[in-house]
Amino acid sequence: MVGAGVGSASQAVANIHTSKPQINTRFIRTKYIQKKLSKAEFLCYTLTMTYQGVLHEYGILLDLPSHTRTVSLLEGNTPLIKAGNLSRQLGDFELFIKYEGLNPTGSFKDRGMTAAISEALGRGAMTVICASTGNTAASAAAYAARAGMNSIVLIPQGKVAAGKLAGAIAYGARVIQIDGSFDDALTMVIEITNKHPICLVNSINPYRIEGQKTSAFEICDVLESAPDWLCLPVGNAGNITSYWAGFKQYNEIKSTGLPQILGVQAAGAAPLVLGHSVEKPETVATAIRIGKPARGEQALQAAEESNGRIMAVSDEQILDMQKMLARLEGIWVEPASAAGLAGLAHEIANGGLNPKGKRVVAICTGHGLKDPDIITKDMHKPSVVPPRLDALEEIILG
Ligand code: F0G
Repeated sequence: MVGAGVGSASQAVANIHTSKPQINTRFIRTKYIQKKLSKAEFLCYTLTMTYQGVLHEYGILLDLPSHTRTVSLLEGNTPLIKAGNLSRQLGDFELFIKYEGLNPTGSFKDRGMTAAISEALGRGAMTVICASTGNTAASAAAYAARAGMNSIVLIPQGKVAAGKLAGAIAYGARVIQIDGSFDDALTMVIEITNKHPICLVNSINPYRIEGQKTSAFEICDVLESAPDWLCLPVGNAGNITSYWAGFKQYNEIKSTGLPQILGVQAAGAAPLVLGHSVEKPETVATAIRIGKPARGEQALQAAEESNGRIMAVSDEQILDMQKMLARLEGIWVEPASAAGLAGLAHEIANGGLNPKGKRVVAICTGHGLKDPDIITKDMHKPSVVPPRLDALEEIILG
């Protein structure tokens, strides 16, 4: 969907008066509201009720320029899944997973990317660029494709999971590997966009932050208040910045309260825990393999203001949690996405966080399919049997 302006609800309503409705019944009783509607009202109702992405849904609350032209893949509106099996293992509390891996390109990046690309298109940008550990690259490439723009993505050589690289290529990005880290790639894209008319769509672009606030709005809308705790992984620190801004904004206008925030880094890439940048970050959670987070200061501020904290967990804790979540809840996420929950489990186990009676939301940022190799590399090959019932019975029944 490429439409003019952020408030495309009014556009939808305007279209009703020019289109010729094919419905002949004079009045329609809808399934959802006990009220007779005229044809025009019915079309207006269904058009505006149909989900049309985060800019349509929350655009009025986002600080986007008037030239913004909506480019959407109907991102957002992701499920908040109650995770009773996992919470029973960890303690006595209410746990929800915000499953951001169900966004159109498989990660939370789509919320910010719809905003950044919509703004870029509106001001006539032809080409966008980003540095990425993979998910931003796939998202930028998809939204740029939809907008008819070119995309260039810089990735750290050999450190991007297969599903992300495949996505960026499939959506038509120009993929360039840097013989260096994500941090080196980010420095380079900042330099090149200062020099040439190419639009930067990393999360230092303020519109990315605006778009990503919408997940906080959705959580409050579903729960009718902010949770007590929000836990999430932290890499370049755009997402934690967005959530905190989103919760604060909603609290101001709807009195939904504020969560305490638990930001979680991987131990081998934990500059915000160590208090200094990390020259050679290393972690199995390649999405958050970042040593100099661009929004590090804001992340620390969010943790402090919310009376929360930023902590680190080991790769082993991340992979254990990834497995636990998949096996107990049927939710498969990529390793980085399990970091928030791994941090929560660690804090509960060592007494740093008492969850009793609390409501906790864990943000699972990317789908497990993004990084299949992490599962298959150590797996036992499935057994092979001849196509006969007795052979199948023997292997199943022993
Ligand atoms: N989880 C996943 C799956 C990610 O891809 C990222 C960041 C994060 C968490 C951390 O979010 O950077 O806002 O703190 N991925 C970026 C990328 C760096 O290039 O795809 P953050």
